[in-house]
Amino acid sequence: MKKLLCLFLGLASIALAQKFTGLAPTPPMGWNSWNTFAGDVNESVVRETAEAMIKNGMRDAGYNYLVIDDTWSLKQRDAQGNLVADPAKFPSGMKALADYLHANGFKLGIYSCAGTLTCGGYPGSWGNEFQDARTFASWGIDYLKYDWCSSGTANPQDAYKRIRDGIHAAGRPMILSICEWGGSKPWEWAADVGHLWRTTGDIYDSYDGKKGWEMGWKKILDLQYDLVTNSQGSDGLAKYAGPDHWNDPDMMEVGSHGLTFAESRAHFTFWCILAAPLMAGNDLRHMTPEICAVLTDKDALAVNQDALGKQGFRVLAEPAKNIEVWVKELSNGAWAAAALNTSTQEAELTLDWGYFGWVFKGNKYDLYDIWAKKPAGTTETPYKAKVASHDVVFFRLTPKK
Ligand code: GLA
Repeated sequence: MKKLLCLFLGLASIALAQKFTGLAPTPPMGWNSWNTFAGDVNESVVRETAEAMIKNGMRDAGYNYLVIDDTWSLKQRDAQGNLVADPAKFPSGMKALADYLHANGFKLGIYSCAGTLTCGGYPGSWGNEFQDARTFASWGIDYLKYDWCSSGTANPQDAYKRIRDGIHAAGRPMILSICEWGGSKPWEWAADVGHLWRTTGDIYDSYDGKKGWEMGWKKILDLQYDLVTNSQGSDGLAKYAGPDHWNDPDMMEVGSHGLTFAESRAHFTFWCILAAPLMAGNDLRHMTPEICAVLTDKDALAVNQDALGKQGFRVLAEPAKNIEVWVKELSNGAWAAAALNTSTQEAELTLDWGYFGWVFKGNKYDLYDIWAKKPAGTTETPYKAKVASHDVVFFRLTPKK
């Protein structure tokens, strides 16, 4: 009897300890309110963003998660302890918004926090994980970003497992986006807990600036390599990512004011190479056609969304030669490669493919220049080109017949 009980409890805990699998076979794509709207997010912004994404082709390119970040709720729970959407910001309520988005081919994401308060000072889910997950499920939420402010001495693994189990018990499949900023190395433990996990502090719209907690995208890119002690030929965080479990270098600033066009395009290129979740953070209602073309570029998205699900890694960083190169393995023996001009001036970059023999193992490839939209020779001869400051050349490498 005792043995049977143990077996039952064991099986029950296995059954409980599950994330919903299969929700993110390739990196999730969508938009998040925080980078542009912060505390000003509301129902109109979300609806207008959805309408813009239908018109500008983003929805059809695969950007289908609209995620409402911090500040959406009232500061007090109701008498039953439920989170309440602020009726001044969301007059129709979250359920109506989810219904509208679902009817238009989108999914709805929302934000909460493992601590007692969110980073913006709104109620967090600490001690209310199962109840809040039921609330989100009842609204039709498809994606939960779960932050780490006001978490005191809580253990991140326990806290994130609790919300995972809450979501499982609520019974509605939701992507769990872990936003613990990398302090406890979630890449080592979170694959069974969430579908993506932040690896660093927050991004802001800068190339490589630093403002306290916030960093430009190039600093975050460097950390995807430096966060793991590397020896020659190691691949940084890359080995921890794969279908349904992605490293998240944070939402994009592509098209935001603090970046030049070249910096936005390079930022997008590297997020594609990193197999990063592609959450646009700019104001999609007011975006230049050039930025829209970058965000919806089919060849770039094919790199990010490649079914193999491998994250790219850095193969060269040579500041003296103004160059940094990252590569990503793709399906059917193909690769992607991106070379960044790291200098503040235009520079001639030389890509000597022979240097990466330890990656390409003697194989030869035809080169296709993704941004120029044309063939660019083969890997048998070095590629040389003048590249603008902080811009990239971005290639697809197809095995030579
Ligand atoms: C933290 C997160 C950000 C954002 C804000 C909201 O800083 O890392 O992505 O969600 O909180 O307050």
